[in-house]
This record gives sequence, structure tokens and C-alpha cells, in this order.
Amino acid sequence: MRLTMPKTDLSTLLLLAGVVLPILEAGARKAVHPPCSQTCGTGMPAKQNLTYPFGFSPGCPIRLNCTEGGDALIGEFLVQSASPDTVTITIEAMCNRSFGSIDQLYGRNYAPTVKNSVVLDNCTQINPCNVPNTQVIGAQFQSLCKASNKTNNSMSCYSEQANDYSTKFLNRTRLFALGCTYFVSSLSEEEVNNVAVSLGVQILQLEWWVNGDECECSQDSDCVPLSGLPNGGRNGFRCKCKDGFRGDGFLAGTGCQRAKSSPDKKKEEALKVLTIVLPLMVLLVVSMLILGVVYVIRRKRKFAEVLEDWERDYGPHRFRYKDLYIATKGFRDQELLGAGGFGRVYRGILPTSNVDIAVKRVSHESGQGMREFAAEIISIGRLRHRNLVALHGYCRRKRELLLVYDYMPNGSLDKYLYNQPKVTLNWMQRFGVIKGVASGLLYLHEGWEQVVIHRDIKASNVLLDAEFNGRLGDFGLARLHDHGDDPQTTRIAGTVGYLAPEHVRTGRATRSTDVFAFGAFLLEVACGRRPIKQEDTEDVILVDWVFSCWDRGDILEARDPKLGVGFVEEEMELVLKLGLMCSHANPLMRPSMRQVLQYLDGDLLVPESSSIGISSARLTFAHCEGSDSLVLSSSVAESLLSGGQ
Ligand SMILES: *[C@@H]1O[C@H](CO)[C@@H](O)[C@H](O)[C@H]1NC(C)=O
Ligand SMILES: *[C@@H]1O[C@H](CO)[C@@H](O)[C@H](O)[C@H]1NC(C)=O
Ligand SMILES: *[C@@H]1O[C@H](CO)[C@@H](O)[C@H](O)[C@H]1NC(C)=O
Ligand SMILES: *[C@@H]1O[C@H](CO)[C@@H](O)[C@H](O)[C@H]1NC(C)=O
Ligand SMILES: *[C@@H]1O[C@H](CO)[C@@H](O)[C@H](O)[C@H]1NC(C)=O
Ligand SMILES: *[C@@H]1O[C@H](CO)[C@@H](O)[C@H](O)[C@H]1NC(C)=O
Ligand SMILES: *[C@@H]1O[C@H](CO)[C@@H](O)[C@H](O)[C@H]1NC(C)=O
Repeated sequence: MRLTMPKTDLSTLLLLAGVVLPILEAGARKAVHPPCSQTCGTGMPAKQNLTYPFGFSPGCPIRLNCTEGGDALIGEFLVQSASPDTVTITIEAMCNRSFGSIDQLYGRNYAPTVKNSVVLDNCTQINPCNVPNTQVIGAQFQSLCKASNKTNNSMSCYSEQANDYSTKFLNRTRLFALGCTYFVSSLSEEEVNNVAVSLGVQILQLEWWVNGDECECSQDSDCVPLSGLPNGGRNGFRCKCKDGFRGDGFLAGTGCQRAKSSPDKKKEEALKVLTIVLPLMVLLVVSMLILGVVYVIRRKRKFAEVLEDWERDYGPHRFRYKDLYIATKGFRDQELLGAGGFGRVYRGILPTSNVDIAVKRVSHESGQGMREFAAEIISIGRLRHRNLVALHGYCRRKRELLLVYDYMPNGSLDKYLYNQPKVTLNWMQRFGVIKGVASGLLYLHEGWEQVVIHRDIKASNVLLDAEFNGRLGDFGLARLHDHGDDPQTTRIAGTVGYLAPEHVRTGRATRSTDVFAFGAFLLEVACGRRPIKQEDTEDVILVDWVFSCWDRGDILEARDPKLGVGFVEEEMELVLKLGLMCSHANPLMRPSMRQVLQYLDGDLLVPESSSIGISSARLTFAHCEGSDSLVLSSSVAESLLSGGQ
């Protein structure tokens, strides 16, 4: 008896401990995580739909501020969106923003990634910068700052060098060692291929994390442990829901929920039980039946079409997903024609009509806004012109939009200019392509019920049909606005080297910003060179170079040497001069597309350089001081106007 008594006590104690301790522990855990609220000062969720660990109350690991309008802020900067590992913020170009304000981007839980290149002013050091065309970007922001008399062309850009990508973040120590006075703006890489870098202008990407050595992720979530963070050597982590689950993935957040569309595991388990209980034969029959049904259901679900009200108008243009799936052999990699910033393009043959098509898959992150986006694209698709790549129709599926275009057997123009298929186009073909693209663009600008701004004219967006006619493609960036309306200010989009200076400055895409890009395109075709060529010491800017040839009185020296002697001197000279006119820094001095076509057809004569007032200082990319009062005063006027609104 004496011996057993303490034993019972001990086991009771152990039992108690087993029951009580977890409760205490759970209590303690609750206490460690006070609630994190995503409602902003307005009592409404912030417009950016942030999830844990972001929020606005003291309990949030990453606490942000918000504006009265309900927008989330990091420091003085507006948050655009947050993803499971990054936050994108807007850095509006500002010439007088003190350099110190860059410190707001280095938080306890976030820091700028190496994908960013920051635009700085009045630095004491020469900065390394990965943006291939520092000078172009410099010049474009410079024109903004020159107007406010703040700078003497001292703008520069900083990014981590590729061989220093040991870290994922912009090195703060190095940044502050540059001794700069102003933090003007930022560019963030969105897509890199070896042809050109597409840059988001005036945006910056931060990577975020939650501090702590131990992962606190919920069920069905994977933990990403992180070290080497710029937070004083602490470790951190992020949680990410497994495939088929949605949610923030954090233990203290909402965790992960099974996404509705994921396959139902319970059915499979029930099937297993059946195999044990029933005789083999019955089992075989039943499972085959079930498999058959599952197959049919999955097939049905896979190809199900969901039609919304607004789509009725576009009915005839809508393709069935099943047809596109068959046409592209299930979006096989072998059918892939290319991948760009807006999605992957597949080749296909329509099963019913045997027509060759190209299918572009555009994914739309938010799902929301898809409707407007789709409606807009499809309405653009009603455009018909022999120099535009025809859009036959579309298909919408979940967060994806499939656009069905004419198949262009000869691919994009840039390949021929830069010698990839070893054949180059002769001058007659090139001149034909130029005229074609010009008339296509004129149609977009003036020929339809609405003005369509293309926004991304460049050689790689010009496709060649079987007869080597040039056709403008990729309206992915185009936005519509009605004739006479003020074009809306949207996020700047396009490709560096083709962006007009006032587009970067004001964010507005207009007909003349298209003309500017068309000018860069003209020079590209005539010279067989990219608008910006990276060389060891300096980037060579095509416009500057062509201009210097002209200045020396030998503009033909700029022509593509691959053409040999097979070109028409008058036409070559015309195209080069027209390219320079379209590249004028002052939008008012650029010709309209109608005039461009008249020049190309010989109905108008290109004026002498002196009479159109081109001097090197008036060209976009020139950095000369002095006689550019015209450019200056117009940009001053513009900045005053936009400031007053
Ligand atoms: C955020 O969520 C609300 C409600 O679900 C929705 O109405 C809103 O459009 C969403 N905003 C964004 C930017 O996704
Ligand atoms: C929010 O505002 C407070 C007070 O102005 C400031 O100390 C804090 O750094 C801000 N937080 C963020 C993320 O901007
Ligand atoms: C920068 O200039 C703008 C107007 O050009 C002015 O509104 C703003 O207050 C200035 N900011 C600083 C920090 O000087
Ligand atoms: C540029 O920097 C120098 C020294 O760093 C400073 O003295 C000067 O005022 C700055 N210039 C401008 C325009 O801010
Ligand atoms: C900048 O300086 C020029 C002359 O140097 C002057 O005409 C112009 O008004 C100034 N602009 C601003 C915004 O101060
Ligand atoms: C710009 O340079 C000129 C002469 O080189 C000088 O007089 C002027 O003070 C400089 N302006 C600034 C803002 O540094
Ligand atoms: C940042 O740069 C400094 C100076 O070049 C260097 O000593 C430091 O190790 C760098 N930090 C990181 C995290 O790479």
C-alpha cells in the first residue's frame, strides 16, 4: 500500500500535467499574438486587400499606416499590392525628395530587393547601375527636374551589380555611401529577356518577412525560413499555403483553407474501402464505373463554359476552351511560339475549320478587373485593318484570358533585323513594312470610332505575314479613350528606349507618345540597330548617333551595313530624317501619323533641319545645355498645368 500510494499520485500528476500544460501553452500562445486588424482608420478594409501579417493594429507583425482614403502606406509611399513574398509600392517621381526618405523602405520586416534600380540625384560618387540605358532614363527624369531648376544634369541610378547578387536586397550601407542629395524615383524589373528589359517606372518592390527563429505556420502551409535579412542579423520566415489551398498560411492569421476547385480526397478513400469489402469482380466493375464517371465529370468540368451577362454582346467572338485546347494540342510546349510580358503564345489549328491561329494566354492576377480588361481587349478586337494582326475572338476561364489571333508564319520583325534566321530583309521589304505599320497606326489613331493608343510599338511587336507585310500586334497594353477626351493617366507602361520623355513625366500616353515610339522604330529598321545599344563604356543611343551623322552631312552613314548597296538613297534618307522628327523632345514638334504617311508617300517634302528646328539640344536624348529654351518652357508650362489641377 505504502508503495503504491505515491505511484498513484505521480501518475495523477503526470495526467494533470498532460491535460493542463497544453491548455496553459495554448493560453500563452494566444497572449503572444494579440489580434491583427486589417481595417484601416476608416473602419473599412484597406483598398489593397491586405492579409495577415499585414495590418493596421499593434498586433500585426507588419504594421502599416493608411490614408484617410483607405489606402495602405509604407512611410510616405502608397502600397499598390502585396503578394505572398513581396509588396509593390509607388515611388512618384519627385525632384526634391530628400535622399534620407529612402530609409523608410528599410523596415523591421521589409527591404527593397535587387530587382529595383533607384533614381538618385546629386550624388558624390559614380554609381553602378544595371538599367541598360542609364542615360535615357537619366535624361527623361532630368527633363522633369531641369524644369524645377533643381539640378545640373547630375541624375544617376543605382542598382546592385549582377555578380553581387549574393544578397536579395539593395545594400543600404552602399546606398548611403553614395552621398546623394535626392531620391527621385525607382524602376523595377518586371521581365527580363535578353532582348530588352521591361521596367515598371515609378514603382519599387519590397520583399517582406516575419521576424523569428521558429516558423509559426498553420496546417497545410509550407514555411520558408529566411536568413541574411537586413534586420540586424535576425532570422525570419514566411508561410505559404500548399498547392490547392488559399489563405495567409500563418498560425496567428487565418491559416489555409482548401480551395474549392481542388479534387475531393474523400471520394478516393471511400473507393479504397470498397476494394476491401467487395469481391474482386464486383470491385473491378464498380471501380471502372466510378472511374468512368469521374473521368466524364472531370472532362465536363475541365471544359465547362461559364458565360456571364456582359459577354452576350461578344457571343460570336467567344471560342470554346475545348476547341482551343484541342487546337494547341493541350497547350503543349512544342506549340509554344514565344513568351512575353503579357503571357505565352501558342500555335494552333482550329479543329473545325483548319485555320492556323496563335493563342495568347494572358493571366490576370486579381481575377477582379478581368471583366473590364476582357471587354476592353475584345472591343479592340473589332478593329480590322490589313496592317493589324486580327483578333478572331477570345475565351475566358477563371483568371485566364485566351486571345485568338491570326497566325503570322514569318514571326516578328526584330528577328530579321538582328540576324537571327540569318536572312535579313531587303530595303524594299523594309520600306514596305514601315509604310504598312504607319498606315496601321494611323488607323488606330484616326480611323476608328475611338482613339486607340497602342503604347508598345517596337520591332518585336511587328509581325510579318506570309507576304512579309508588316502587321502591328499585341494590343495588350492598349487603352481606349474616346475622341476628344483627355487620355487617362495610368501607370506608365511600354519599353525603355521607346518611351517619350513627356510620357514618363506625366504618365499620359497620347498619340504623340506613339509617334515617338514609331520614330524609334523607324531608326531601328533603317539602321538595323536597337534604340539603345549597350557597350562597355557607354550606352550608344541610336537617335543621338543618327543625329550626329546628319550633323556631319552624311546621314546615310547611319544605314544598316547589312543592306550593302541594295537600297534607295532617297527613301533611306527620308526614313532616317523622319525618325529624327518623330523623336523630337517636344511633342508639338512631332508630325502626326497622317503627316508621317504623307511624307512616306512623297506627298509632303521633309523640311530642312533648320526649318523644323531640330538641334541636338532639342532631341530627347541629348544632354547639351543651352539653346533648349523651347523644350524647357514647354515642360515648365506642363508641370505648372499638371501641378495646378
Ligand atoms: C478587395 O476585396 C473586396 C471584397 O472582397 C472587393 O470588392 C475589392 O474589389 C477587392 N479589391 C482588390 C484591389 O482586389
Ligand atoms: C506609421 O506612422 C508612424 C507615426 O507617424 C511612424 O512612426 C511609422 O514608421 C509609420 N509606419 C509605416 C509602416 O510607415
Ligand atoms: C517639392 O516640390 C513640390 C512642388 O514642386 C512641393 O509641393 C513640395 O513641398 C516640395 N517638397 C520638399 C520636400 O521640398
Ligand atoms: C549637392 O550636393 C552638395 C554636397 O553633397 C551640396 O553642397 C549641394 O547643395 C547639393 N546640391 C543641390 C542642388 O542640392
Ligand atoms: C528656372 O529657371 C529659369 C531661368 O533660369 C526660369 O525662367 C524659370 O522660371 C525657372 N523655373 C522654375 C520652376 O523656377
Ligand atoms: C549649375 O551650374 C551652373 C554653372 O555650371 C552654376 O552657376 C549653378 O549654380 C549650378 N546650379 C546648381 C543648382 O547647382
Ligand atoms: C553591404 O555593403 C558593404 C560595403 O560594401 C559590405 O561591407 C556589406 O557586407 C554589404 N552587406 C551585405 C548584406 O551584403
